[in-house]
Amino acid sequence: MSQEVRGVIAFGKKEPVRVETIVVPDPGPGEVVVKIQACGVCHTDLHYREGGISDDFPFLLGHEAAGIVESVGNGVTQVMPGDFVILNWRAVCGQCRACLRGRPWYCFDTHNARQKMTLTDGRELSPALGIGAFAEKTLVSAGQCTRVDPAASPAVAGLLGCGVMAGIGAAINTGNVGRGDSVAVIGCGGVGDAAIAGSRLAGAAKIIAVDINENKLLSALKMGATHIVNSGTTDPVEAIRELTAGNGADVVIDAVGRPETYKQAFYARDLAGTVVLVGVPTPEMMLELPLLEVFGRGGALKSSWYGDCLPSRDFPMLIDLHLQGRLDLASFVTETIALDDVEKAFERMHHGDVLRSVVVL
Ligand code: APR
Ligand code: ZN
Ligand code: ZN
Repeated sequence: MSQEVRGVIAFGKKEPVRVETIVVPDPGPGEVVVKIQACGVCHTDLHYREGGISDDFPFLLGHEAAGIVESVGNGVTQVMPGDFVILNWRAVCGQCRACLRGRPWYCFDTHNARQKMTLTDGRELSPALGIGAFAEKTLVSAGQCTRVDPAASPAVAGLLGCGVMAGIGAAINTGNVGRGDSVAVIGCGGVGDAAIAGSRLAGAAKIIAVDINENKLLSALKMGATHIVNSGTTDPVEAIRELTAGNGADVVIDAVGRPETYKQAFYARDLAGTVVLVGVPTPEMMLELPLLEVFGRGGALKSSWYGDCLPSRDFPMLIDLHLQGRLDLASFVTETIALDDVEKAFERMHHGDVLRSVVVL
């Protein structure tokens, strides 16, 4: 029997979102219905609402979520009803060329639930990032669910489903930050702060936070930055070099994703160092760099999709470290709100005064 629950829908470009009744089908083979306990508000949800991602309105928004498995379809073995899970955007296939080479975090053939959730008039919904978790319940593929220690608070756990994982993974997976390294992080929003927390976790000796907003720099210090640079008033490349004995940082993480911040990252990196791009550029952005410098400086210029995470490997580990007090995830939750407050949270996001608003159901 399908069920009717409440969910946050974006009906059209730039239209305020509305809470509507949605229909969640019973899970089919390989699918799971999850009772959502918490879901963070991410820029990507706003991008969907602004028509910046696709025109497949209506969207069921929300994708940084944790909850309890309510029911499972045929053939589901990974999770059972009652399990506490974090949702991820993409169930890996296990069969594509990336999966077969033992690199499932690059899977080129990920999937979501096959059945569609709908409005009560039958109109099919497009769930944000294949999840759609600003809803009392949602339908996903079993591979999108990762069981973690239920001692963690849902509001905190859900954040690992997107931006916070992207930032931590940019440092520990893509950047391979290690003990004693120097790291600079450009842009200290949720993603950049998570990259700072990840660098601290990995044992970085020096963590330089760069932002144009003084308040963001102060919160970066709480997340583990050892030095701060206001790039609105100071040349960040010079400042990072000065803080690293004139050399540049071993790893520089661009958590903004603009040509100018990428260039700063490129030049603020030590010889043979690594640049990690985790901020997401827009289609019109172009990058110009002297190719000889790209060659001559050696090292690695890497992009980090979703922190190159493997949910089954990374989510339980990071939740355990959090529960042991070794990774402060709770500081990413600025406020908890209700399902009806998502539109207001979008406005606050515009003003840049929140790391994460989290809908708690
Ligand atoms: N130089 C330095 N910092 C900047 C610059 C700049 N030119 N422009 C913006 N910032 C800072 C902002 O002041 C803010 O602190 O970058 C931070 C961005 O933070 P958020 O807007 O909260 O974004 P976040 O959720 O961290 O995501 C960062 O990753 O997922 C992508 O689309 C997302 O591209 C975005 C990036
Ligand atoms: Zn997100
Ligand atoms: Zn695959």
